[in-house]
Amino acid sequence: MTFDRSIKIAPSILSADFADFGREIRAIEDQGADWVHVDVMDGHFVPNLTFGPPAVKAFRRHVKTFMDVHLMIAPVDPYIEAYAEAGADMITAHIEAGPHIHRTLQAIKATGKMAGVSLNPGTPAESIEHLLDLVDMVLVMSVNPGFGGQKFIPSAVDKVAKVRAMIGDRPIHIQVDGGVDPTTVGPLVKAGADCFVAGSAVFKGGSVDRPEVYGANIRAIREAAEAARG
Ligand code: DX5
Ligand code: ZN
Repeated sequence: MTFDRSIKIAPSILSADFADFGREIRAIEDQGADWVHVDVMDGHFVPNLTFGPPAVKAFRRHVKTFMDVHLMIAPVDPYIEAYAEAGADMITAHIEAGPHIHRTLQAIKATGKMAGVSLNPGTPAESIEHLLDLVDMVLVMSVNPGFGGQKFIPSAVDKVAKVRAMIGDRPIHIQVDGGVDPTTVGPLVKAGADCFVAGSAVFKGGSVDRPEVYGANIRAIREAAEAARG
């Protein structure tokens, strides 16, 4: 994949119908999703449980775009190989998930996959200073991870601006995840983010039988983002 800072919308399938992932993935991609965001939760690092590697491997068969796997698990290292083999294009790990994030990112890169590092709302931007030469993406969480449908935490905007300044000319994406919708995306774009995860704001009001609603929801986020870029 060639690097660019175009606006990317990554619907989180945490908000999809859990009995119908194949059709849900096809619906969001047909309706304009750039990436498919997969939230992996372990009931330990975050208070919720979702997808093991076999589930992610099954999703892969339906993903035509880019599978973005957000690991909210601790420990991370024992599972990197399995999620890589499941077909992730990007694997993102949390800086708070263990004492050796540098080693974790090296291990992700060693699988040949792209590597992301994620920061919880309470973690300062500066904490990634010595990781920038190892990552393809920085994920700034704008909610405390664990659930969809939470309220956007506005201090994420300032953190994105700090991360953007630290990145300089490096080819590193800035992703924001949590409470992203047409009303919150603009300031994030102005601060320098290019990739937006959205669960509730994409899936609300739609279904696999009414996929055009997903399309309208994705377009509304993209249009607000592009308007902020000017
Ligand atoms: C939160 C997850 C998010 C979540 C976003 O722990 O990482 O990806 O699904 O959901 P919304 O967009 O509903 O805040
Ligand atoms: Zn996520």
